[in-house]
Formats: sequence, structure tokens, C-alpha cells
Amino acid sequence: MMEAIKTRRSIRKYKETPVPENLLKEVLNAARLAPSAENAQPWKIIVVMDVLVKQKVTQACNGQKFLVQAPVVLVLCGIPEEAFPTVGGYMSSHIIDATIALDHLTLAARALGLGTCWVAKFKEDKLKDILGIPEDVRVIAVSPLGYPDESPERSPRKNLEELISYDRYA
Ligand SMILES: Cc1cc2nc3c(=O)[nH]c(=O)nc-3n(C[C@H](O)[C@H](O)[C@H](O)COP(=O)(O)O)c2cc1C
Repeated sequence: MMEAIKTRRSIRKYKETPVPENLLKEVLNAARLAPSAENAQPWKIIVVMDVLVKQKVTQACNGQKFLVQAPVVLVLCGIPEEAFPTVGGYMSSHIIDATIALDHLTLAARALGLGTCWVAKFKEDKLKDILGIPEDVRVIAVSPLGYPDESPERSPRKNLEELISYDRYA
């Protein structure tokens, strides 16, 4: 697990090799096993493999070409109606729950030799049209999935001292 965490990168170049069905199932199952508030699991992942649909999804994601090049594109949806409504007394859990699920998936993918890349630059209304996503369901993220055709360096991170404080906010 620590190796997957330490070596995962955002992959923006993919081989044409298809993702074997058993590996696809395995990474989707990693998402399924993620925790969620009150165990509500208020999310769905749409697995896009049809080339025409992938092209449209890519257009809806500002034309980020690595999406259409990957054999699989995942579209992560959150379902506010099914979510725990008041995390900390003020927010719905659907984004948190969906995000944890996709993070489980990205690490499982890395462990199995597959690459992913979180994509936030997308037009939600366009994705909803293309994929038939109901009005009250939100698109949280998109990610390609496939065999990496690049090995990017680790991008910089803040020091632990900047990110962590002890006993009070600092
Ligand atoms: C919420 C979120 C949205 C992102 N959106 C995009 C995106 O639209 N396009 C892209 O190429 N990378 C996107 N990224 C990838 C980040 O640029 C990347 O995670 C960051 O630079 C750190 O690099 P690493 O993932 O290789 O460690 C996104 C990452 C996150 C977490």
C-alpha cells in the first residue's frame, strides 16, 4: 500500500493496450469497499469504453486528449439525495464519499500497474447530457484508466510541518 501511495502519479499518456476485465473489476471493487458517511455509498461510477462516447466526454473535459487515448474513462458521480446531509453540521457527504471511493480506485490501479489522473476541468452540464446523468446527481470527477506510457517524476509537495499541526491549528 505504501509503495502504491508513494509511486502513484497523474498519468497523461496511455498505451493502447486494453484494461483486462478482471483488473477493471478489481479497481472498481476497491472503490466499492471505500468508507462513506453512515455507509450511504452515495455515488456511482460510469465506465466509458465506447470510442464515440469517450470522444464526447473528452470534449466536455476541455479536450484533454489523454482521456480519449486511454482505453477506459471513468466518470464519478455523487448522489446528494442519498448522502448524509450534515457532515460537521453543515455539508452533504456526497463529494467526500465519492472522492474517497475514487482515491481507493486510483491507488488500487497503481498497485495493479494501471494509471489514472484526476480530472476536474469538465463541463458538468455537457457530461450530464452525454451520459444521461439525472439532474439531481452531480459529477465529481473524471479519470482515464489504462496502462501508463510515461513515468513522470514526483511533483513537489509541501513539507509535513506546513500541513500538520499538533494540539491546535497553526
Ligand atoms: C481534484 C483534482 C482535479 C484535477 N484536475 C486535473 C485536470 O483537469 N487535468 C489534469 O491534467 N490534471 C488534473 N489533476 C491532477 C493534478 O494536477 C495532480 O494530481 C497534481 O499536479 C499532483 O501530481 P501527481 O498526481 O502526479 O502527484 C487534478 C487533481 C485533482 C486532485
